[in-house]
Amino acid sequence: MSDTAPHGEPFDRFSVLLSEAVALGRTRIPEPTSFALGTVDAAGQPAVRIVLLKAVDERGFVFYTNYESRKGRELLGQRRAAMCFHWQPMERQVRVEGDVTEVSSEEADEYFASRPRGSQVGAWASLQSQRIATPGDLEARVAEVERRYEGVAVPRPPHWSGFRIVPRRIEFWHGMPSRLHERNVYVKDGGGWRTEVLYP
Ligand SMILES: Cc1cc2nc3c(=O)[nH]c(=O)nc-3n(C[C@H](O)[C@H](O)[C@H](O)COP(=O)(O)O)c2cc1C
Repeated sequence: MSDTAPHGEPFDRFSVLLSEAVALGRTRIPEPTSFALGTVDAAGQPAVRIVLLKAVDERGFVFYTNYESRKGRELLGQRRAAMCFHWQPMERQVRVEGDVTEVSSEEADEYFASRPRGSQVGAWASLQSQRIATPGDLEARVAEVERRYEGVAVPRPPHWSGFRIVPRRIEFWHGMPSRLHERNVYVKDGGGWRTEVLYP
């Protein structure tokens, strides 16, 4: 059986759950915005790691990273991603699959400017995902960046920005007794969504 839903519905639904997860507090859910990000390389090899959601609206889900990192290169190459949130105390899971776009430089500048200075320095100093050739190289790079920007604002590195995952499919999973869990799926269909309910 399938039905349809307006474009905003799964985003509203997601935002309600995220607010509930945040409201439970850091002792119950230490990182409510964290999610597993799945990417794939040119050979079809998937990889997954945790990142933090920084924005969500009807355009999609935004996170920030180094575009030259493994995930950055894979996302720019294949332009596809999967995400999975798990809020264990709520017995909730949200799975997202979609296409990848870059956020605007204005959006990235604004978010970068809001970060602690140490994180801004780190974004310049870390050659994310590359091999550290000599112990101490990272610390030396941090010191060099600190010297370079002493007394002035740290600008956003050109290789550091955000990705927006534009969903084609969103699944809301709700744990139920006897593993008879609820699974509500939204599949993009024109301007709205086709919805369906799956066996657990
Ligand atoms: C809780 C948590 C939050 C993280 N948030 C981010 C993030 O927002 N952006 C990021 O680039 N890496 C983040 N990381 C580090 C990534 O998991 C990963 O180690 C790093 O980005 C390198 O991944 P890659 O080599 O696949 O590109 C986070 C790790 C943890 C455990």
